[in-house]
Amino acid sequence: MMETIANPLKGRHFLTLADFSSEEIVQLIENAIDLKKMQKQGIAHPYLKGKTLGMIFEKSSTRTRVSFEVGMNQLGGHALFLSRNDIQLGRGETIPDTAKVLSRYVDGIMIRSHEHAGVEELAAHSAVPVINALTDDFHPCQALADLMTLYEVKGDLKGRKLAYIGDGNNMAHSLMIACAKLGVDCAIASPQGYEPKQEIINVATNIAQDTGAVLIITNDPKTAVEKADAVYTDVWTSMGWEEEEEVRLKTFQPYQVNTELMGYADKEAIFLHCLPAKRGQEVTAEVIDGPQSFVFDEVENRLHAQKALMVALMGD
Ligand code: CP
Ligand code: NVA
Repeated sequence: MMETIANPLKGRHFLTLADFSSEEIVQLIENAIDLKKMQKQGIAHPYLKGKTLGMIFEKSSTRTRVSFEVGMNQLGGHALFLSRNDIQLGRGETIPDTAKVLSRYVDGIMIRSHEHAGVEELAAHSAVPVINALTDDFHPCQALADLMTLYEVKGDLKGRKLAYIGDGNNMAHSLMIACAKLGVDCAIASPQGYEPKQEIINVATNIAQDTGAVLIITNDPKTAVEKADAVYTDVWTSMGWEEEEEVRLKTFQPYQVNTELMGYADKEAIFLHCLPAKRGQEVTAEVIDGPQSFVFDEVENRLHAQKALMVALMGD
């Protein structure tokens, strides 16, 4: 008899962590840790036996594709890779029609896309849960795995501090929200003009007021990193912004996470990065390949966190 796993989120879409309560996010992390243990101990856990996940990709991916596909397999289900160019969406079939068609076949839809509004539209017309696997504005699956990693390493979350250095992009947005929900102080340091979107800062600020988390938005990386328990960075040029790469390379130079900057953090601080990374740009090899780096634990936790998520949304 398989151990039952709490899934009070059945049927819901997972577009941003802002839509979930602190308790629901903590429960997902706890379930992810349980699933990780089952996987390590070789205990079968086919919670999604016979279910299918459709995975629409409009941008490249290594981790997301592999972790969702392997995760579905480990849960006894099946995942379908649907590249935009290979399905009719790429030839102009509408988002609502795509949502309605897929809903007749699959039990959940994962999508990696450009505009967040497009994913909201897909969810509005889908009869099955839609999981956001990265938009221009959010990457909630990654933030869930990141906070799970911080929790595993430190043993707690409330009152900890995460510093994010670099582009005020989808990762910065999702981390701000995840930290606010879980009572983790969050400092974001970005160059002028590359700060997180004000409307998303406002959302995170409102959440932080309820949980007591402190949110700092600054242009100074040293201030942000001061006494941090985790230092996080992401590429300076995200997918879709390649034309700006040359300018960004110059502008972001003072925002590199290197040994000197890590020296301002807590001495037990860990380094995190969603990957893929560009060594020598946003982070030095010394830091990302050094003893403070937990980037490959984050990679692994994508698998466990997303399995917990899929069981919660799609399980019986
Ligand atoms: N971190 C992450 O989402 O990686 P991929 O782009 O390889 O999926
Ligand atoms: N900010 C990056 C994250 C990649 C996982 C991007 O959107 O390209």
